[in-house]
Amino acid sequence: MICALPGNEAFAERLCAELGMRAVELEWRRFPDGESYLRFRQDLKGHNLALVCTLNDPDSKTLTLLFAARTARELGASKVALVAPYLGYMRQDRRFQDGEAVTSVHFAGLLSQAFDRLLTVDPHLHRRGSLSEIYSIPSKAVAAAPAMAQWIRANVPEPLVVGPDSESEQWAAEVAAACAAPHAVMNKTRLGDRRVEIEAPPLSRWKDRTPVLLDDIISSARTMALAARKIQEAGLRAPVCIGVHGVFSPDALGALRGAGVAKVVTTNTIAHETNGIDVSALVARAMEDLA
Ligand code: R5P
Repeated sequence: MICALPGNEAFAERLCAELGMRAVELEWRRFPDGESYLRFRQDLKGHNLALVCTLNDPDSKTLTLLFAARTARELGASKVALVAPYLGYMRQDRRFQDGEAVTSVHFAGLLSQAFDRLLTVDPHLHRRGSLSEIYSIPSKAVAAAPAMAQWIRANVPEPLVVGPDSESEQWAAEVAAACAAPHAVMNKTRLGDRRVEIEAPPLSRWKDRTPVLLDDIISSARTMALAARKIQEAGLRAPVCIGVHGVFSPDALGALRGAGVAKVVTTNTIAHETNGIDVSALVARAMEDLA
């Protein structure tokens, strides 16, 4: 059974369509004091249930999600899986300064207690090798690369795939290979939440190609915006920017427009006006062997 948490209905419907299922209804509303009311409208007893909830802005969503998971278990669901197309709280994976909370570990602990399985798309594994280092439940990471490569092949002639930092090399290299295109990777230093420095490798020999900047997350968009500027300073045309997860802080699209990018495209792991790449089929296939 598949059930959408509020705001995830469209993605859950796509999964249902792919898997030939009907979504379980979850009634949700707020009491006048702001607390959540939840009620499952179908009998869950003996069924494996996948709760679909993308976890951008996780502070606003997590409590409802945990209530839903606990309730599903109480109502007799055999296994309760979390399908989180975007998995939040992956950035703070170390105590950089005394006293800081390593929130990725605490968040993983909370979700691992509430769920039996986890499925997500391209989690932001920075200093971690895999989700299993912090999640104690079986987990699966779906790669969006095939869907991004398909979009580039259909929409961008003669692409040059560019990763804005060393971490993005994994996506840039794979997507470029799938498009039979060259790739290049920049070197980024983060100076603050909205401040980055980027060094570009020599790019001028690819002046006849269309640059495609590719990253896992677009949040403040400062990374993409500065990388786009570096590309144009090297004499290449304005890049197409592709993000797996369009987290987009309120000023992010403005920063990208200010950098003169040609187009911004994201996958639908987070619903946004820039969504142009559908990963629901990839997620649905991965759900088939999640049980
Ligand atoms: C960082 O390591 C990620 O891969 C992204 O580059 C980062 O999250 C982008 O952040 P922002 O859009 O705020 O520059």
